[in-house]
Amino acid sequence: MVFLNLLLSGCARKQEEERIKIGVILPLTGLLSTFGQSVRKGVELALEEVNKGGGILGKQIECIIEDDESKTDGAQTVVTKLLTKDKVDLVLGEVVSSATLAIAPLCQRYKVPLVTPSATNVEVTKVGDYIFRTCFIDDFQGSALARFAFENLGARRAAILKDVKSDYSIGLASAFSKTFKEMGGEIVNEQAYAAGDTDFRTQLTSIKASNPDALFIPGYYTEVGLIIRQAKELSLRITLLGGDGWDSPKLVEIAGASAEGTYFGTHFSPQQPTPRVRDFVSAFRQKYNEDPDALAALGYDALRLVADAIRRAGTMERVKVREELAKTSKFTGVTGDITIDENRNARKPLVMLKIEGGKPTYLTSIEL
Ligand code: PHE
Repeated sequence: MVFLNLLLSGCARKQEEERIKIGVILPLTGLLSTFGQSVRKGVELALEEVNKGGGILGKQIECIIEDDESKTDGAQTVVTKLLTKDKVDLVLGEVVSSATLAIAPLCQRYKVPLVTPSATNVEVTKVGDYIFRTCFIDDFQGSALARFAFENLGARRAAILKDVKSDYSIGLASAFSKTFKEMGGEIVNEQAYAAGDTDFRTQLTSIKASNPDALFIPGYYTEVGLIIRQAKELSLRITLLGGDGWDSPKLVEIAGASAEGTYFGTHFSPQQPTPRVRDFVSAFRQKYNEDPDALAALGYDALRLVADAIRRAGTMERVKVREELAKTSKFTGVTGDITIDENRNARKPLVMLKIEGGKPTYLTSIEL
């Protein structure tokens, strides 16, 4: 009996060794849950495609998906488990900047490559040479949004309402502000809130009094939805705009009709008229019976890109996988072609959307 057990566990171990293990860290519950759920759907669609096609290096990929409950300490707890207990070959995640900044030093210390599909704060990849992202950075996003506000919306006086608990929000606000001022615009009022707040009337009243043409809100959908609603209640008749943090079906659910005519920049729209996007949207609809948002597309691209880098490396040795990730050039993604630059970031266009008829509608793509 003992002998049999040994044999069995020996077998199980061998099978495990034959799989490529990717730890995926997502905010599946809590304040940012639609972000995590969307990435998970994209990752699982890509995983299914890669594994059905025979896997990589003759091995199947296994994703160990962990929920951090939208908390940075939650992300640290699960990354520790993935690195020390599951001994994953690579970490995919987190989705937002603060949580990614919290786990990146650990991945760097263990020399396990980390690839975030969506954390845009400039500092993320500066943590070390094992830290990569497959999306653009906030210096670009903030600057492109400022250009859009100045040129396309004709704004000259802008106000900013930012989340001071979020690295993403702080960085995006400062990039926006820098370009807007360089172009000759003025930031007439800058107000703050913290994630989890529900009453923004004091800040919005102050903003109204300073008479801007546009209000830039670099936040996440839960608070932004309420801000948009309360701005309308206080009769702020100015253009509201934001960045990728708005990209959630919950935004319009929370803001209601007040969301009409607002703008945001993101990474992808299911309405982009390219064959690549069309194929992805139809595969996604078939599996989930809904349209993919930007995070679903980013999750899909990240897993496929990682699988391709492992294939090119020809081994699971982390040093080699790291090298191949760094060499990624013109990888065909649904969010655009992905080339990893010398700072381990990607350059891709910002996709501008306008909320019309209760739905984000594709306007244009802004290149670097
Ligand atoms: N860029 C955001 C961050 O760094 C995360 C995000 C990406 C949210 C894409 C929505 C869509 O925190």
